[in-house]
Amino acid sequence: MAKFPENFLWGGATSAAQIEGGRCEDGKGLSHLDYVYYRGPKIPCNFMLTEHLNKARREEATLNFPNRRGIDFYHRYKEDIALLAEMGFKSFRMSISWTRLFPTGLEETPDPKGVEFYHNVFRELHKYNIEPLVTMIHYEMPITFVDRYNGWYSAEIIPYCMKYLKFLIDEYKDEVKYWLTFNEINMVTAVPWLGGGIVLDRDVQLPRPDLRHGLRFPPETSKVMDQMSHQALHHQFIASAMIVKYAHDTAPNCLIGNMFNLHHLYPETPSPADAYRAHEETEFNMFFCDVMARGYYPAWMKSYYRKHDINIKWYDNYEKILSEGKVDFISLSYYLSSIVTADPERQEKIGSFMRGLNNPYIKTSEFGWQIDPTALRISLNELRDRFNLPIYIVENGIGAFEKPDEDGKIHDDYRIAYLRDHIKAIKEAIDDGVDVIGYTPWGCIDLVSCSLVSMSKRYGFIYVDADDEGNGTYNRSRKDSFYWYKKVIASNGEDLD
Ligand code: BG6
Repeated sequence: MAKFPENFLWGGATSAAQIEGGRCEDGKGLSHLDYVYYRGPKIPCNFMLTEHLNKARREEATLNFPNRRGIDFYHRYKEDIALLAEMGFKSFRMSISWTRLFPTGLEETPDPKGVEFYHNVFRELHKYNIEPLVTMIHYEMPITFVDRYNGWYSAEIIPYCMKYLKFLIDEYKDEVKYWLTFNEINMVTAVPWLGGGIVLDRDVQLPRPDLRHGLRFPPETSKVMDQMSHQALHHQFIASAMIVKYAHDTAPNCLIGNMFNLHHLYPETPSPADAYRAHEETEFNMFFCDVMARGYYPAWMKSYYRKHDINIKWYDNYEKILSEGKVDFISLSYYLSSIVTADPERQEKIGSFMRGLNNPYIKTSEFGWQIDPTALRISLNELRDRFNLPIYIVENGIGAFEKPDEDGKIHDDYRIAYLRDHIKAIKEAIDDGVDVIGYTPWGCIDLVSCSLVSMSKRYGFIYVDADDEGNGTYNRSRKDSFYWYKKVIASNGEDLD
């Protein structure tokens, strides 16, 4: 069996909105995620319509906005990075908050305090030989652009975004080698508010979706959502390709990856109809990489747009822009697999994604996410065949409710089991000949959940003493998985017991 490469980038992943806090400090502006309010420990919140945004503004003083608190990384980054170093991290995935540099997005020059904050974080990481892996946009944009342009739906945002992205490369290119452009770029088509700052019913009347049992949309909503989100996606592809080219031209030491949420799908039965559905959904999932890694829209996607009556306003010279901005590596988040059926009565639709059905052969987490390391191995092989590029797995993990025992310890054996099985699958994929360069499990330190904006769904090796309402000391402590992962890194993935 092949071993992990010598310089394998073991680490962990976070994002600015979910860890920093200090949202209104030192001149920082508010981003669209700062308006997402907590609705309960298992209620998804990241789908906002006009009524939700209005409520967030109207009741700003009394609603609970966990992203504004994060885990106080803004003040505690030195202590946090020391803990990551103690585990032996080689790589730390973080994002930069657009509004810490450009509070409204409209400023001509960035805020020096924000600029310095990220220099300080990078300095601290390098002190321990930890390579930063920086997401330029992890689900965040100045709220100004939601109000002015309905987020990424309008091409008007592109010049402002390019000013921010170019600044990142110019300012930090000597400290940051690995960059990702948009976090989970495919999410804009599934959750347009989260991925694109789009308020779907800003200009049209839409029925209310049922948010309690996952996202289920009436057909009118799905239609508007497909049209708006694919237009927004197009603008994100353009900005991404432009910054990749800019970095290639001006910062040849930097490597830039895409980032998509890998969703592995099996057909429910061996019927050709189910097999075709699974093929179609897999192609849809890969499409996001196709554009960013191959530099063009695949022919089938243009025909999909035609068949679904989605009319994209193509950006001037988009073909040239995309072909000149191909990424250097593929990066992905992977949490779960699911199965699909061709039976129209049993479909659950999320935007252009089919929601999967339960797979009786695999277990699920307590949040219903289906745990399937083998699907990761299969997909890694498929990605190798399709793109022949290095692959960085920048998110993976299991979210759970956790409470310390009487001795204040967290015995997270389920997390160890989950990560062990996924690391084994990655090792097998490396043995299959896949060039995997790094692995940064999600939420290496407990942080605010993205879908639920809660603290109580935890992913970390490090526990943070804070609850959904912001009570607690915010003190950090080591879970059992902390010591286990330290051993994994020290043995370069050989000791997984
Ligand atoms: C990914 C996101 O979709 O999944 C992260 O990039 C997110 O931001 C992670 O936190 C886990 O999702 P959740 O909803 O459990 O926090």
